[in-house]
Amino acid sequence: MKQTEQWSSRLGFILSAAGSAVGLGAIWKFPYVAGVNGGGAFFFLFLVFTILFGLPLLLAEFVIGRHTQKNAIQSYKVIAPQTKWHLLGYLGLIANFIILSFYSVIGGWIILYIYKTVAGQLSGLTVEQYQTIFADTIADPFISLIAHLLFMLLTIVIVARGIQNGIERANKIMMPALFILFLLLIVRSLTLTNISEGLRFLFLPDFTKVTAETILAALGQALFTLSLGVSTMLTYSSYVPKSESLPRSALSIVSMNILIVILAGLAIFPAVFSFGLTPDAGPVLLFEVLPNVFSQLPLGMFFFFAFLILFLFAALTSALSMLEMIVSNLAKGSIILRKKWSWIIGIVIFIAGIPSALSFGVIEDWKLFGKTFFDLVDYLVSNMIMPIGALFISVFVPFKMRKDILIAELQSGGAFPRGLFKSWFFIIRFIVPAAILLILLNMLEIW
Ligand code: PHE
Repeated sequence: MKQTEQWSSRLGFILSAAGSAVGLGAIWKFPYVAGVNGGGAFFFLFLVFTILFGLPLLLAEFVIGRHTQKNAIQSYKVIAPQTKWHLLGYLGLIANFIILSFYSVIGGWIILYIYKTVAGQLSGLTVEQYQTIFADTIADPFISLIAHLLFMLLTIVIVARGIQNGIERANKIMMPALFILFLLLIVRSLTLTNISEGLRFLFLPDFTKVTAETILAALGQALFTLSLGVSTMLTYSSYVPKSESLPRSALSIVSMNILIVILAGLAIFPAVFSFGLTPDAGPVLLFEVLPNVFSQLPLGMFFFFAFLILFLFAALTSALSMLEMIVSNLAKGSIILRKKWSWIIGIVIFIAGIPSALSFGVIEDWKLFGKTFFDLVDYLVSNMIMPIGALFISVFVPFKMRKDILIAELQSGGAFPRGLFKSWFFIIRFIVPAAILLILLNMLEIW
């Protein structure tokens, strides 16, 4: 059965796919993973992976989804019937499920901060007080679980309403607004006292610090921020009309994403060093740094509130795409089933996320390989499932899809020169799989 739902406009699709991409990955995760992995060299690798692997892979997922106009599992089945390739769809389903379970915990933190800003609990404190307040809040099991639940409920309600009413409309307003607020934040951050150290940390690569772990982390980060390897982008592209140019859309999404990563880096790192914090604080980094930056601005709490709303929105638009990826496979185009499955899956994801939420308090000492439960699930998805999924997609597209179909899809809705096609095909066929395989094998050696 062909899907009946479609994006209503070109902008709707680009903003929604960009909304899936731009989220906690760029704003919350990038700064702390860069912080843990030494800064500049990580950033450099991240950029290389985003452009060299991310962009071609995004196009690859787009081509599959738009060609079949079906959900992920069906797409693989239609293109490669009677094979095991559709397992790639199931892998994506599981991955989206796991990601959303911990993603929603961080989404909950944003909600908590919104509450605290409104309640006036965050103005005029010292750097240490901000740290303590945050640590205490997320360590409280009741509070962090309620916040996690609220975030999941928001996600469920929007996905249950369907793509045009829910997802697309919301994306159109919030993405541009987020951008503007970021600029303000950067102006503030770049007028702090000690900006050069932050800028050096982010932009001056020190390649002596690069290990197999850093390389894998940069790859994982590039895939995570672009929502790749787990068929989420495939799902969104299945709602794209044929009149749309996929390469053009992919290029704007990747550029927007890189821009937000740079903006987030510029907003965070100068502030980290100016306030005497350390960049390797882990998942709490952003939440510890931002209140300091805002509290020193005129009308600071007002702007912090506005920023948090948009940040929440960025997180939500990514969360929607994860739930949408799962629900589309179960609802198969039916509106009633869409509602039902959105609720069922959403609630199960909430439950699955409970240990992640408790990882910052009650069970923070439960560690395996030196990682908390939260860190482990993130590692499992970002650094294992996503690269493996990406690897298989980069084999699937060139080897299982007909070349004339690929060319037609890439040219439909706008020109895509032959030379570009050849380079894309070469990269996706040889470079991406070989490189990902090398990076993964390189890691195994360490273990
Ligand atoms: N790209 C999203 C972000 O950066 C995360 C995501 C991963 C979304 C996988 C969908 C699928 O926040």
